Amino acid sequence: MNDRFLRACRGEALDGPPIWVMRQAGRYLPEYRALRERHDFLTLCREPDLAAEVSLQPIRRFGFDAAIVFSDILLPLESMGCAVTFDPGPRFAAPVRTAADVARLEPRRLLEAPLPTAEAIALLRRELDGRAAVIGFSGAPFTLAAYLVQGESREGFPLARRLMLQEPRLFADLLDRLADAMGHYLVRQVDAGAQAVQLFDSWAGMLPADEFSAVVLPVVRRVIERVRPAGVPVIYFATGVTHLLERLPATGADVIGLCWRTPLDEAVARIAAPVALQGNLDPQVMFAGDQVIASRARDVVARGRAARGHVFNLGHGILPDTPIRAVEVLVETVRGLRRPAGAEAHGAAVARG
Ligand code: CP3
Repeated sequence: MNDRFLRACRGEALDGPPIWVMRQAGRYLPEYRALRERHDFLTLCREPDLAAEVSLQPIRRFGFDAAIVFSDILLPLESMGCAVTFDPGPRFAAPVRTAADVARLEPRRLLEAPLPTAEAIALLRRELDGRAAVIGFSGAPFTLAAYLVQGESREGFPLARRLMLQEPRLFADLLDRLADAMGHYLVRQVDAGAQAVQLFDSWAGMLPADEFSAVVLPVVRRVIERVRPAGVPVIYFATGVTHLLERLPATGADVIGLCWRTPLDEAVARIAAPVALQGNLDPQVMFAGDQVIASRARDVVARGRAARGHVFNLGHGILPDTPIRAVEVLVETVRGLRRPAGAEAHGAAVARG
């Protein structure tokens, strides 16, 4: 059984980090594009067989240590009455902006709604049979609220920021509802077989530190407290959080996922808590050729040794036109560092007991 990913999440000493890549199932893969010609994105997410198949594609090709179930952070919001389309960016026909809009969002609907993602997770577990761990996920409340209020992707999400500043109580109510809903959603994914879950808070880093602590941290903690009894590692990922590093352990996450801006060893020193780290190669490095990819990947692995556990990943999702060859070089490089010669190998063996 391949438990390298779960052991790294738990902070156990390993001879090298496990590797998976955010957005590993997606448009850079020819086999994904082939399926996408026949089915639209939402169909791929909503049909458990197709979602499981797409999740498996990168595992077959690269042998990653973890498979993330194929879906989108915005999909479960449909179960709360918020219809979303993708073209290719997401759009909500009816954004959430008033007290009446917020009052309509009923978290308990996530307890009862049919959940194709949960079925896909069960299929994945069966199909993988321990060869890779299965990761479930959700959006974190702030990032979901940013899309719901704005109604679409927009730099800085100005309408969401305005609501947050002008109507803090309404915004807090929205976040609480999303926290409870995502708690239910993640627990159902774990019940279906997810062995770890990741909370994507992609846009939390745009906030000033005091607003992050006052508004965002409590609701991230609320989601994680709801998931805790399910007993799986929780990864919290946000980008652009160099000004927030010291505050991240208060989320209660087991693993903190970092974007490429902060070197992992610096992050370890500043986070100063017994958490594992995930990350953090700059996705742009994947376009710089074999040698640059290999040397930058080695650097990330070396810096990650300072952490109490390190899961190798990119610092954000893999970009759609990333060459396949780049991913092959990345995986070979990270794998190749797993059995270091001489004293280091001995040290790793001792550390493993
Ligand atoms: O492989 C995986 O990582 C699992 C699948 C996954 C998707 N989206 C598939 C997807 C995951 C984990 C996500 C998370 C997600 N979705 C986030 C958080 C991570 C991040 O990137 O910051 C966010 C912010 C979204 C919202 C979203 N979904 C946007 C803004 C877009 C459009 C932009 C884009 O990348 O095209 C999507 C669409 C989307 N989600 C696609 C995929 C594969 C592209 C759909 C297609 O095939 O056309």
